[in-house]
Amino acid sequence: MKKNWFSSKIGEISKLGGYKKPDKYSNAIKLDSNENYAVDPSLFQDLMGQARERIDVREYPLGGTERLVASLAEYVKMPAEMVGVGNGSDQIIDLILGNLASRDTRILTSEPTFGFFEERCKLYGLPTTKIPFDGEMGLQAEDFAAKSKKADILYLDSPNNPTGFQFPRKQLERLAKSFEGLVIIDEAYVEFAPYSFVDAAKKMENLIVLRTLSKSFGLAGLRIGYFVADRKVADAFSRVVQYPYPLNTIAIEAGILALKKQKYFAGVVELVKRERQRITEKLREMGVFKVFDSQANFVLFSAGGASRRIHKALIEQGIVIKNLGRVGSYDGCLRVTVGTPEMNSKFLTAIRDLLN
Ligand SMILES: Cc1ncc(COP(=O)(O)O)c(C=O)c1O
Repeated sequence: MKKNWFSSKIGEISKLGGYKKPDKYSNAIKLDSNENYAVDPSLFQDLMGQARERIDVREYPLGGTERLVASLAEYVKMPAEMVGVGNGSDQIIDLILGNLASRDTRILTSEPTFGFFEERCKLYGLPTTKIPFDGEMGLQAEDFAAKSKKADILYLDSPNNPTGFQFPRKQLERLAKSFEGLVIIDEAYVEFAPYSFVDAAKKMENLIVLRTLSKSFGLAGLRIGYFVADRKVADAFSRVVQYPYPLNTIAIEAGILALKKQKYFAGVVELVKRERQRITEKLREMGVFKVFDSQANFVLFSAGGASRRIHKALIEQGIVIKNLGRVGSYDGCLRVTVGTPEMNSKFLTAIRDLLN
């Protein structure tokens, strides 16, 4: 190895874009990051207070992960031996790619796919094939099946970010079963969608289903990701690959307490789904956007040539949404996260006023 290998490696890495975090705006209505503001903030104040009383930060969280895993397993109705955690599902993705893949591991995913996953593939130099979304912002399972022989990892976010698309269950089942390598199904938004694939992990040894408390539970700041997989996979990952203490004590306790309030969070999910429908309908009624059906907590729409102007004008009014540019065969795509009914109404009024 050359003596200057380190500087050339840093040079190589520096050329990469890295995951682009959203811009920070103070006092804005933040509808750009698929967070969940429909959760009552006072609930979290209570929860954090209770969590604080339960912990001693001088200690490592010995046994804490296991207790959180038990609560998560109960929530997804799967055996605890099939569940593991990570510092956000981001970290689980990173550990899977960083430890299980090498430069000749071929990835198959959609275009677009989750941005962080894509950036991690670039960082690890993993050759990636991407199947584009079609004219109706859907994916065709046959296109994936056609390329699957030449791939080692199939990654699908289900529902997809940023389109909100989810394969019908039967199609995903057929596709996943026909794939011989590792299948990663990222269900960050699954609570807002018609079905979850976690139970398939009971029958498939090559499946990892990623989940998170960042979206439906509104706990993005605590960074609690988890996964469901075959017992052997879960054991190898949690015992060998994962850090000894991947989550901090406060996140563990708050996560356990939040999982005791499942009924409340299920109500929040229903509210978000109703609001998603309202946003979709109202944007369609405006008659100038192509608005795509979504199974997640956001809505994607194309504003064509007007997208930049709309994005900027909304920011000037203190409303931040995500400007994506071209997605599939549509230019000028914008993605708006479903917020509280008040936030959504402000967004809809602002965008309607811009059109007048
Ligand atoms: C598809 C997808 N997976 C994973 C994540 C990250 O989840 P976490 O907060 O658990 O890292 C996101 C966040 O936006 C996402 O869109």
